[in-house]
Amino acid sequence: MMLYNLHLTSGLVLAPMSGYTNWPMRMLCRRFGAELCYTEMLSAAGMVRRTRNTRTLLERPEADRPLIVQLFTSSAQEACLAARMLEDEGFDGIDINMGCPVKKVVYKGAGAALMKDALTAAEMAESVRNAVRMPVSVKIRAGWDSSSINAPEIAAVLETTGIDCLIVHPRTKADMYRGSPRWEVFSRVREQTRLPLVASGDIQSPEDLSRLRALGADAFMVGRGAVGRPWIFRELTGGAPPSLEERQETMLEHLDMLCACLGQAKGILHMRKYLSAYIRGLPGAAAFRQEVCSEENYTQLQSLINLFFKSKKVC
Ligand SMILES: Cc1cc2nc3c(=O)[nH]c(=O)nc-3n(C[C@H](O)[C@H](O)[C@H](O)COP(=O)(O)O)c2cc1C
Repeated sequence: MMLYNLHLTSGLVLAPMSGYTNWPMRMLCRRFGAELCYTEMLSAAGMVRRTRNTRTLLERPEADRPLIVQLFTSSAQEACLAARMLEDEGFDGIDINMGCPVKKVVYKGAGAALMKDALTAAEMAESVRNAVRMPVSVKIRAGWDSSSINAPEIAAVLETTGIDCLIVHPRTKADMYRGSPRWEVFSRVREQTRLPLVASGDIQSPEDLSRLRALGADAFMVGRGAVGRPWIFRELTGGAPPSLEERQETMLEHLDMLCACLGQAKGILHMRKYLSAYIRGLPGAAAFRQEVCSEENYTQLQSLINLFFKSKKVC
């Protein structure tokens, strides 16, 4: 199928996740089968002002492609300026965040706050669509809360703006990440638009893909399921679970890439977010987590990881 002018085979993509999907996680997910990745959400204002934080979030190795940059803002003008800059820098597309439920984002009228007003949402999407040649998508939720579910209506309006595809995480802003995604809302979105649809929410197994394909999803976005488990993309297409060696090597490589990306001290701290997920389900995981999560020395951390896996192989 075609998405962002790209030909995708499995339709498996890595979700934008603030604080997680920097280039090390993206590169590992690509290796195991993610066909497309997104940056975490970036402030369009920060992009326009070229703040250091935003520039850092855009750093990537040459092989980190195709890559869609996700922007959040409440200003169509800012979104257009940022999108033009990103187009000049050779990114593969822009996604506009209309789903972030975080207070400091919605308070400014960005993220899920845009779901409250279809007209503003459409104006934003249309302005960006007209400002750049590259593909543009929008990521939405089911609505603001259970009494204002409007994703089907928003989808219909967004289609008229000429965007290339729509990503739907069918929980409301009020749901945050709780409860099951409201897949019945996703089906209603499908009825309202011919845009390619990317489904997001709790995707964990090949059965989930079949179910969502039957609801009309064209592509599948994996978020939390890929944290400390980049091989989920291989497993989703029927591939083997990782061997112990593969887990160990991937973990060590992730640590190295994070140190290269953020510097050693920050890289080690950042790795803590993934450590327990990498060893989930293995005997002794709880004790290991306690030990590694307080380790600040790179060489020590490396040997703790090696020792942990060595003990598993002996068992
Ligand atoms: C820690 C975290 C950060 C997230 N950051 C973003 C973000 O920057 N932009 C976005 O559109 N969605 C963000 N999301 C939502 C995910 O992209 C995804 O839609 C949601 O988590 C449901 O998919 P999952 O169950 O596969 O994680 C975030 C989710 C989590 C848990």
